[in-house]
Amino acid sequence: MSRLRPNIAAMKGYVPGYQPPDIASWIKINTNENSYPPSPKVVEAILAELGSDGSSLHTYPSASSQLLRETASELYGFDPAWIIMANGSDEVLNNLIRAFAGEGDEIAYVHPSYSYYATLAEIQGARVRTFGLTDDFRIAGFPERYEGKIFFLTTPNAPLGPAFPLEYIEELAQRCLGMLVLDETYADFAEFNALELVKKYDNVVVTRSLSKSYALAGMRLGLAIARPEVIAALDKIRDHYNLDRLAQAACVAALKDQEHLRECCRKILETREWFSAELRAIGYNVIPSQGNYVFATPPDRDGKRIYEGLYARKILVRHFSDPLLCQGLRISIGTRSEMERTLAAIKEIG
Ligand SMILES: Cc1ncc(COP(=O)(O)O)c(C=O)c1O
Repeated sequence: MSRLRPNIAAMKGYVPGYQPPDIASWIKINTNENSYPPSPKVVEAILAELGSDGSSLHTYPSASSQLLRETASELYGFDPAWIIMANGSDEVLNNLIRAFAGEGDEIAYVHPSYSYYATLAEIQGARVRTFGLTDDFRIAGFPERYEGKIFFLTTPNAPLGPAFPLEYIEELAQRCLGMLVLDETYADFAEFNALELVKKYDNVVVTRSLSKSYALAGMRLGLAIARPEVIAALDKIRDHYNLDRLAQAACVAALKDQEHLRECCRKILETREWFSAELRAIGYNVIPSQGNYVFATPPDRDGKRIYEGLYARKILVRHFSDPLLCQGLRISIGTRSEMERTLAAIKEIG
């Protein structure tokens, strides 16, 4: 198609984790979704917003998502001017690139982490650079002064699991001349997060998602916290009605029900530790994780064989063909009973 921009014609497009059509007949632990339901208050809020005849839907939602910003403001301790709500954190990642990286500019991220940053950069026509990881989990060869427009740091790292230490992230903030975007999609499962750095450094942005810890992947909700001037720029770029009415109602209810969030995370972390120990006991290498998933490598380092064995038993985990990752599997932590069945299947596959 000669009319296309050359970068769009050349790009492959992002391939998300498989969503089987007969989803209920699978143990689906391939995309780090939450196997537990969201807070019951979320369901109540959606139904109340919808009304018995759906009549709320004929008017547009709040364009500024003001109530959500205020709710998030109370939760995170930042003024609403420091917060933007998004249609999944993917939306805000996209808008960060659009705001800070022009055609031909460089953005960078860590490989392995979330390759969608590269897709978004390709759409924009920005150049992509990747940095590897050292054995002690630091960024290999990161320059003293990194001049790229954005450096994306996924922390906790997905698919591997560890979070970068705060002192190290702070050092990176000082070394980045452009923006440092901390993708904290999995921070609710972690022992610490880097939110405080937003107050200290004007180039730091933190992104969060309600897809994982709040069990709302199907609603598409995320947010970013940054200096008001960054938020104001992102506000200019986003679709003006980026969050629909039901998503807005769901988001407020979810953020307010912190008890539900804590209890859900507690169960997942308990199961993660149990599952990791069981896999180690049968010779797997399991990287200590701060997320709701583990990266596990079988003794024969043939991740694909285990993936296929599990697939045949209707258990869906994530196998990456990338040479750095193909030896293992990323396994999301589902309910205790799902993980017991997964462990039994892994033992059977041998
Ligand atoms: C590291 C990372 N960032 C961002 C996202 C996107 O999250 P959301 O569902 O909020 O768009 C994901 C989803 O898997 C992720 O793993």
